[in-house]
Amino acid sequence: MSQTPAAAALSRRRFLQSSALATGALVAAPAVHGATPAPAPTGAGADCTHFPANFMWGAATSSYQIEGAAEIDGRKPSIWDTFARTPGKVHNGDTGDVAIDHYHRFREDVKLMADLGVKHYRFSIAWPRVIPDGRGALNAKGVDFYKRLLDALQEHGIEPAVTLYHWDLPQTLQDEYRGWEDRRIVDDFTAYAEAMGKALGDRVPRWFTLNEVSTFAMIGYGVGYPGHHAPGVELPDRAALHRGIFHAVLAHGRGVQALRATCKADAQIGIAENYHAYAPIIETEEHIAAAHRAFALDEANASIIMPILTGRYNPEWVEKMNGAAPQATDAELKDIGTPIDILGFNCYHGGYAQAADNAAGFDVVPTPRAFPRMNISWLTVTPEAIYWGIRQIADVAGQPDLPIVISENGCADAAEANSAGLVRDIDRIMYLRQYLGYVQRAVREGYSIAGYFPWSLADNFEWAEGYAKRFGMVHVDFETQKRTPKLSYHWFQEVIRQRRVV
Ligand code: BG6
Repeated sequence: MSQTPAAAALSRRRFLQSSALATGALVAAPAVHGATPAPAPTGAGADCTHFPANFMWGAATSSYQIEGAAEIDGRKPSIWDTFARTPGKVHNGDTGDVAIDHYHRFREDVKLMADLGVKHYRFSIAWPRVIPDGRGALNAKGVDFYKRLLDALQEHGIEPAVTLYHWDLPQTLQDEYRGWEDRRIVDDFTAYAEAMGKALGDRVPRWFTLNEVSTFAMIGYGVGYPGHHAPGVELPDRAALHRGIFHAVLAHGRGVQALRATCKADAQIGIAENYHAYAPIIETEEHIAAAHRAFALDEANASIIMPILTGRYNPEWVEKMNGAAPQATDAELKDIGTPIDILGFNCYHGGYAQAADNAAGFDVVPTPRAFPRMNISWLTVTPEAIYWGIRQIADVAGQPDLPIVISENGCADAAEANSAGLVRDIDRIMYLRQYLGYVQRAVREGYSIAGYFPWSLADNFEWAEGYAKRFGMVHVDFETQKRTPKLSYHWFQEVIRQRRVV
């Protein structure tokens, strides 16, 4: 078994903010009022324990992680095929060639979602499946796969939420001009968005342009060392990194415009980003202000979600970057800030900030050695991040009414199956319960939070970790492709049924 850079000491998320435990205790789930829940009221903030009736419960996946069928029906390689097939890049030499064979088993997977009770499903389109060389003619067979999937979802009353780019860039565009490093990616992504809007826009009510710019940029590219996600490129300096990020946020803005022009008038269009949330170390005015400043000046937030939501770069951050921040014209800023209708917040963990008597006015508190973590080294248990991340969009980005959905939240488990074959992943249940408790707090306080999509429906190809890390609520035997719901699946089923944290 080869030890990859990702599996080694380098943490998958080491670029992200450090975090620390504010208090020893995790938040408890809201109190249960007897065995049978009281009828739940409608409307955000209307009740202390229940989620509103129109709250969106969903499941989430992405193309390369689940589809397989890498060379079927005209699909060409993506940068992830190339990266995974390069020895030493992915744990155990695993690839997404077969993954969980969702391409052939999607009906079974949709049935699992229907039984779970979700009414929403977030999946991504594999760009090299529908436009194999990244630009040019549509591959009808590739598009047909997504039409069949949409049909299956419709049969079960499940609404699709489609991500255009969850990291599987057509390899041709990487070979031709180095992908996100080159400005030409903006036009190619926009044309791809337009093509998908035309092909599927009459059937898809929700769209996300890109998934986690901060991850695919800051981990796909390393500054002074090779990135340990595809394309695994080494950049000379941070200015080069921020040029790539600039191309991504501009592609997002133009992609929103292209979708808007081609989709149903009431389609909700946005981005799914794992922006970095900061919780105040203690909830007092001064520490809340410190957390908000940490949020605004965080390198990923200041270069991605803040310009997207405000149409500008924070001058204080630009100055701090000392020449590495991107240069943008007014017209480009306007495109980057194209209004969106929905924001996907992928929340795994966050940082803790404290007011400090220094020039910045805050300190990000480092993570103590024994801080609680899940079964993947970077994943500290910081459930407050989900509440503060929702709130910071209102308080810092100035978008209190923008509907937010938690487009990802989850963890790798370390649970074993019992004699009956049930994986009792109480580690995942503990994790999700804590985070969902804080989503509930945001609902209760009237923040604009509209839905929750745990990551992930089923175990899948976990990027540089290969198949070694399992993020699913459904267990997959990767040899036989047998799917078996875990205990967390049954837990989430009950959350949805009762509309509260159970
Ligand atoms: C998110 C991605 O970063 O986190 C998912 O959008 C991914 O695709 C999930 O599976 C889990 O994180 P990691 O670091 O294990 O890939």
